Amino acid sequence: MPLSLQQLEVIVLAAGKGTRMKSQLPKVLHRLCGQSLLERVLRTAAALEPARIVVVAGYQADLLKEEIEKLKLHPFLSDINVVITLQEQQNGTGHAAQIGLKKISAKADSVLILPGDSPLLREEDLRPLLTAAKESAPSLCFLSCLHPSPSGFGRIKRDSDGAVLGIVEHKDCSAEELGINEINTSIYLADKAFLSDALQSLEANNAQGELYLTDIVARAVSDKQKLIAVSTDQLEPVLGANTRAELSDLERFRREQINRAWMESGVSFEDPANAYIDEAVKIGPDTFIGAGTKLRGQTVVENNVHIEGNTLIVDSHVAEGSLIRFSCEIESSKIGARCEIGPFAHLRPGSFLWDKVKIGNFVETKKAELYHGVKVNHLSYIGDAEVGGGTNIGAGTITCNYDGSKKHKTKIDAGCFIGSNTALVAPVEVGQGAYVAAGSTITQNVPAGSLGVARGQQRNIDGWAERKKMITGEK
Ligand code: UD1
Ligand code: CA
Repeated sequence: MPLSLQQLEVIVLAAGKGTRMKSQLPKVLHRLCGQSLLERVLRTAAALEPARIVVVAGYQADLLKEEIEKLKLHPFLSDINVVITLQEQQNGTGHAAQIGLKKISAKADSVLILPGDSPLLREEDLRPLLTAAKESAPSLCFLSCLHPSPSGFGRIKRDSDGAVLGIVEHKDCSAEELGINEINTSIYLADKAFLSDALQSLEANNAQGELYLTDIVARAVSDKQKLIAVSTDQLEPVLGANTRAELSDLERFRREQINRAWMESGVSFEDPANAYIDEAVKIGPDTFIGAGTKLRGQTVVENNVHIEGNTLIVDSHVAEGSLIRFSCEIESSKIGARCEIGPFAHLRPGSFLWDKVKIGNFVETKKAELYHGVKVNHLSYIGDAEVGGGTNIGAGTITCNYDGSKKHKTKIDAGCFIGSNTALVAPVEVGQGAYVAAGSTITQNVPAGSLGVARGQQRNIDGWAERKKMITGEK
């Protein structure tokens, strides 16, 4: 039953709870550099262009379904038939593969099995398996790796001539077997007919009382089927994330790779060990990333942007030449070219800044379009607003956008001057070139070119301080 690779399909094992994570969330939905473990494995599987990917779900299967539905909207999965199947009770990796195999299409002749918890696995790590299958047509090949501290992994048993005999799980290892450094990666490429026979023969006579997928290797040996162990020297890509510590080790490894790649393309890092750049983020050359910066999701930072540090930017676009001073939070927003933001500014979703806009310390914006050259330099809230080009918003200006039940809009035209400590009670409009006096509570529109004043008039009471002293006896 040699592998022919006429029609390759993939089974992803993802039904486990991930007990060692100590989490309500299924293990494969934990994230690494902005993507779930499941997304990462599916991206790798999809790169091989299989006709079908079967995902074996179990623990919190609905959450896995939700994630897969979201992922199907991405181009990488658009041409692939992704099928989800349910392993109601998680009786081991062999049991999961049995359930997965039922959903592999009749036309498929070869099956790749991937663990759902190997987030750093890349297409290039799988190619040697496909090459071995093409060149030698075995019934089964699998990926093994030398590990300096193999504790917890299945060990590859070989005879004195080096021929593979089988895989022994850590918990089933003898003292001597525990000394074996060659580990099972849990990545297998099998002829479908062989796999089907081998899975049917599995028995749960082991330390964990489960059906072990690893036993298909010994089955190939006893059936005298051609078997190849392909050894890889790339350790991290084949490691699983079973615990939070393992996940954070793998994330650190990947983070370092991502940051190095950006440095090679012309991005500077104040401290690459303390910058957190998600997988899908894009950064232009000559941009500087200060320590403690987190660029999340689909963020794009163009060239020549200076981010001082301790800043979080999520799903946002920062155009070239902008300066993001220390400690800002920016989410689902657009920042034009040569803007200056912060320190300590909060751009909430829907903030849309044209070029050369200045947002200073302790300013919050939300659903606000600020045209060319607008300045909001201190202590303001600009929400549900449109602010015309060149307008200056004084310190402490608040758009009162919420009346307790509904949100209303504030429109300030170009070239206006809003005095400090102004409350603009929306809905309200300030016309082009108008002024608003400091301390005003503006509840009516201010026409273009005029001055809006809305505050109590000042009166000074002569000699008041002296009379107070006489009455109270103060010195
Ligand atoms: C497995 C291998 C081990 C190998 C290691 C490599 C077995 C028995 N052991 O151990 O030889 O060295 O991977 O990382 O195969 N799953 C199910 N249903 C189940 C059980 C598990 O779908 O009933 C899924 C899990 O969700 C996970 C994957 O299979 O994504 C692997 O399971 P896990 O428990 O992580 O296996 P390991 O103990 O790491
Ligand atoms: Ca694992």
